[in-house]
Amino acid sequence: MSKGLRGIEAGTTSICTVGETGDDLHYRGYDVVDLSEHCIFEEVCYLLLHGNLPNKDQLKSFSNNLISKRSLPDPLKIVLEIIPKETNPMDVLRTACSFLGNIEPEKSFDNQMHCSERLLGIFPSVLNYWYHFSHSGNKISEENDSETIAGHFLHTLHGRKPTETEEKVMNISLILYAEHEFNASTFAARVCAATLSDFYSCVTGAIGTLRGPLHGGANEKAMELISRFEDEESAAQSIYSMLENKELIMGFGHAVYKKQDPRNDIIKKWSKKLSVGRTNEKLYDISSRIERIMKEEKGLFANADFFHASAYNFMDIPTKLFTPIFVCSRVSGWAAHIIEQRSDNKLIRPGAKYVGSDPLDFVPINERD
Ligand code: COA
Repeated sequence: MSKGLRGIEAGTTSICTVGETGDDLHYRGYDVVDLSEHCIFEEVCYLLLHGNLPNKDQLKSFSNNLISKRSLPDPLKIVLEIIPKETNPMDVLRTACSFLGNIEPEKSFDNQMHCSERLLGIFPSVLNYWYHFSHSGNKISEENDSETIAGHFLHTLHGRKPTETEEKVMNISLILYAEHEFNASTFAARVCAATLSDFYSCVTGAIGTLRGPLHGGANEKAMELISRFEDEESAAQSIYSMLENKELIMGFGHAVYKKQDPRNDIIKKWSKKLSVGRTNEKLYDISSRIERIMKEEKGLFANADFFHASAYNFMDIPTKLFTPIFVCSRVSGWAAHIIEQRSDNKLIRPGAKYVGSDPLDFVPINERD
C-alpha cells in the first residue's frame, strides 16, 4: 500500500513525462524548456491534443478555431451575472463548465475535439466577464483582436492590448502549467472519463480538484505569503519561525521532483524581468530570499507556483485569478488525457486496504446501549 498512491503507475500515457530522466518535464517528447522558449500556447495545445507540433497552416487554422470559440452564449452570461463577487473564481469556472454541459452537451464522443477547443477558447472570456461584472457591473466584450489565448486573457482583464512582454510571459506561463502527467486534477478527469461520462463532467471534476491549496491553489497562497512582508529581513524572520512551527510554506516541495522543478527557473527569470521599475519590485527579492532559506533550512526547492505569484502580480493580475489561469492552461492537458483515456478505456477502480473492525454480530436497535 502506498499512501497517496505515491510511486504507483496507475495507467499508461504517451502525453507527458515528469521526472523520467531526472527533474525534467516533457510534453509528447518535447522538453518544456524548449516549448516555453519557442512556442505560443496554441502550439502546445495542438501538440497535446493531436500528438505532434503543428505546421504553420495547421496552427493558423487551429488558432482561428479557438478564436471562434471565445464567445459567451447569453444563458451563460445570465448565470455569470448572478454569481456573487465574493465567490471563489474557481467555483465560477466550475459552474460555467458544468452549465455549458447543459446548454451545449457533448452529444457523442465524436465531439470531443470540439469540446476541448470550446473550453480552451471560452474559459478566459468566462473568467473576465464574471470578474468585471461582479466587481464593477461592466459587461465586457469578449471580442478583441488578440490572436492568442494569452493576449485574449490579458486584453479582457485589463481592457487594453497587452504589451509584447506581458503576452510573452502569459504564453510561457500557460505552457508551463499545461500538462503534468497523472497529477491530482488530471487523474480526477481520467477517473471520470473512464466511467464514459461526458467531457464537461470530466473537466468540472478536474476544476474542483485543482482548486485545493495542495494543488493549483498554491500560487495564490504564495502571493498571500510574499505580500505580507515589508522587506527581506522581516520575510526571513517569519519564514524561520514558520519552519520552527512546522508550517507549510506554499510554493515549495513537490510530490515527484526531487531536487528542482524545471519550470521554476523559467518563470523566475521572467518574474525578475517584469519586476524592473515596478513600485513593488521588492516582491522579487523577498521571494528569492525565501527560496534561499527554504533550500538551506529544509533542502526544499521552489515549485512552479512560487515565482508565478510575483510574475502575475507584476502584470497586475488580481491574486484571486491566479488559480483560474491555471485552469485556462491545464484544460489542454485534461482534454488530452480524457481523449487518451477514452481511446483505450478501462473503468478505474482500485482496491483499498481495509483497516476497520472485524465482522460484528448485528444488534437490533432496541437492544443497543
Ligand atoms: N513547506 C514546509 N515543509 C514542507 C513543504 C513545504 N512546502 N513541503 C514538504 N515539506 C516537508 C514536509 O512537512 C515533510 O516533512 P517531515 O518529513 O518532517 O514530515 C517533508 O517535507 C516531505 O513532505 P511530504 O508532504 O511528504 O511531500 P509530498 O511529496 O507528499 O508533498 C507537496 C508534496 C507538494 C504536497 C508538499 O510539498 C506541499 O504541501 N507543498 C506546499 C503546497 C504546494 O506548493 N503545492 C503545489 C505543488 S506543485
